[in-house]
Amino acid sequence: MQTSTRNRILEIFTQAGNDFVSGQKLAQLLDCSRSAVWKHMEELRKEGFELEAVRKKGYRIKSTLDRVTRNEIQFGLQTKRFGKTIYDQETIDSTQKLAHRLVQEGCPDGTVVIAEEQTGGRGRLQRDWYSPKYTGIWMSIVLRPDLPPQMAPPFTLIAAVAVAQSIEETAGVHPEIKWPNDVLIGGKKCSGILTELQADTDRIQAIILGIGMNVNQTVFPEELEKTATSLRIESGKKIKRAVLVQRILEKLEKYQAIYLKNGFAPLKLLWESYAVSIGTNIIAHTLQGDIAGRALGITDEGVLKLEGNDGRLHDIYSADIEIVAKD
Ligand code: BTN
Repeated sequence: MQTSTRNRILEIFTQAGNDFVSGQKLAQLLDCSRSAVWKHMEELRKEGFELEAVRKKGYRIKSTLDRVTRNEIQFGLQTKRFGKTIYDQETIDSTQKLAHRLVQEGCPDGTVVIAEEQTGGRGRLQRDWYSPKYTGIWMSIVLRPDLPPQMAPPFTLIAAVAVAQSIEETAGVHPEIKWPNDVLIGGKKCSGILTELQADTDRIQAIILGIGMNVNQTVFPEELEKTATSLRIESGKKIKRAVLVQRILEKLEKYQAIYLKNGFAPLKLLWESYAVSIGTNIIAHTLQGDIAGRALGITDEGVLKLEGNDGRLHDIYSADIEIVAKD
C-alpha cells in the first residue's frame, strides 16, 4: 500500500473517532473499489492494527497496547507534516544518533525517531539519560526550518512549552519550566530536552530536538530518586504515551508555524507562564564559572537575563540553573 493511501486511511479513522466507517464510504473517499478497501484493511491488520469489521456498519480501528510504535502514534495524530515519517525501534543506543544520520540522508521536516528503550541515552552537558523500557518517551524530532543558525535557540523554549502543555492536558498536573528546558513537577524533573543543530554558516540544515520524558515509572534508581519524578507518580494515573507524543507533535507543528510567521515574542509569553526560575534567586553554573543573582527574564532570542549579586547584568546563553530561593 502506498504511504499516501495509508496516511489517508489513518486520517479518515482519526476523524471518525469511535464511529464505524463503511466500506462504501472508504471506497468513495479513497477513490478505489470496495475490494481494494478490503485489501488495504487487511494490510493494516497485518501491520498490527486491531480492527473491528462489522457487517452493515463497516470498519473501526480499536486502540491497542501502550506502545510508542508508528501505528499507535499515527492513529489519532492531527498534524499535516509532523510525525508523518516515523522510525520506531524497540531498542536503540540513542534516538539522537539515528536522527543525525537521517538528516544526512535528507529526511523531511517533522521526522520522528522514537524507541521503547535507549541503551546510551544522552542528556545535556554530556550527562547520561536514564531511558528504561516501555515507561517513557525517548524521541528525537527533526525540524528543518529555512532560517539562519542564530534563530535556532528559541526552538528549545518552544519545545519546552509544547511538552509542558501536553503534560498538563494529558496528565492533569501543572508542570513548570526551568530555563532553558527542564520540565519539573513539584520541583522534580520529569522531562528534559536536548537541542542539537546541523548548520552551514548562513542556514540551518536541521534542528534535532531530543525529548526525554518520564511517564509511567513508579520507581527510580537511588541516584535519581531525589531529583526525578514521573507523570504517573505525580498524577496517580497510568498515561498512554502515544497520546502524549501526538499532543507534543501537534503543538510543535503549530508553534513552529507561529515562530516562522510572527517570531518568538508571542510564544515568549506562553513560555513565561510556565517559567519557575524567573524573578527568583539563582546560581547559573556556566562553563566560565558560577554566577549568583536574580533571573530577570528572557529576551526575544531566548537568552536569560541575570542580575548578579554585585549588580552587573549578564546574558546567559547556556548554563545549568540552580534555584536558590523564591521571594
Ligand atoms: C536533558 O539533559 O535534560 C536532556 C535530556 C534529553 C534526553 C532525550 S531522550 C531522546 C533523545 N535521545 C537521547 O539520547 N537524548 C534525548
